[in-house]
Amino acid sequence: MSQFKFGNRPLLRSVVKGVGSALPKRLVTNSELEKQVDTSDDWIVQRTGIRQRYLAGEGETTSTLATQAAIAALADAGMDVQDIDLVIVATSTPDYTFPATATIVQAALGITRGVAFDVQAVCSGFVFGVATADKYLTSGSHKCALVIGAETFSRILDWKDRTTCVLFGDGAGAIVLEAQEVTGTANERGVMTSHLRSDGRHRAKLFVDGGPSTTQTVGHLRMEGREVFRHAVGMVTDVIMDAFAATGTSVAELDWFVPHQANRRIIDASADKLSIAPEKVVTTVQLHGNTSAASIPLALSVAKADGRIKQGDLVMIEAMGGGFTWGSALIRW
Ligand code: ACO
Repeated sequence: MSQFKFGNRPLLRSVVKGVGSALPKRLVTNSELEKQVDTSDDWIVQRTGIRQRYLAGEGETTSTLATQAAIAALADAGMDVQDIDLVIVATSTPDYTFPATATIVQAALGITRGVAFDVQAVCSGFVFGVATADKYLTSGSHKCALVIGAETFSRILDWKDRTTCVLFGDGAGAIVLEAQEVTGTANERGVMTSHLRSDGRHRAKLFVDGGPSTTQTVGHLRMEGREVFRHAVGMVTDVIMDAFAATGTSVAELDWFVPHQANRRIIDASADKLSIAPEKVVTTVQLHGNTSAASIPLALSVAKADGRIKQGDLVMIEAMGGGFTWGSALIRW
């Protein structure tokens, strides 16, 4: 199936064909959390913008949510599962230590060709997944990818720790990317550029205190909230400027800014620093909480469904997460 041609290889771009999402059945408001930990709706809304989140129940796992999101994205694309030859699942909450959740999704969808694997970059996972798929598709080695961000963070939260448990939610979002030939102008559809970074020195600011090779437990999420906040805005600004520089585009041309949905204050501060008008910012953290790798495709799904994101729009996605990892991708939708 390889289309790899040395020499006069066609110029390819990864075009977004469809987007879809899935949420657990159970919606949990801030008021419900007041019964569980010493917190208040006011505190959560003021500090984070979060009003509710969805939490996975019995039978709902990262792979079941991912599979539902993938089916929705394929339906939106008007494509069949057999068109897919690459499945990437970005997650930090896999169903099992192994095999990769992507292979579970691949089997659930009935795909028996191509390749499926997970990427692990915590909240930046979806951006890392898009960048990885883009490299495969634009090399000509693969034709059509499902990139899925899916998480069940509720299962790695310490439900007695009010400083973290109120912030996160579960869910999944997916996009279908297809390699298409282009001439290379800024107006042609597809992923125009992506920029990934990581710096492992920041591990202790946001991590899970367990794992197979250390504690033989799943562990719980631990975070120095203020430190994460302090780094978030500066780091993402850099990779966003890199994306504009690489494509010769500017912030004025941007139609939609779709950041990782961690915290309303981080989103607003980033947009403000970049002089992005508030009406161009897609914010869904109030609906879903921080769903880590799922947050960007969930936001894309909402903004596509309500008619905001349209074909031809210039869309910037960006995220920062544990590691630290951070990245951006600029997409002509
Ligand atoms: N309810 C009520 N009070 C609380 C809660 C809560 N849920 N949590 C903390 N508090 C209290 C603290 O104990 C503290 O009380 P004190 O002053 O008596 O000591 C007070 O509220 C202020 O706490 P801070 O931590 O200073 O609050 P801050 O304004 O920094 O907001 C927050 C905390 C929301 C976590 C903020 O730091 C933040 O958003 N950080 C970034 C977090 C984030 O985005 N993480 C995700 C990164 S992406 C990823 O990869 C997962």
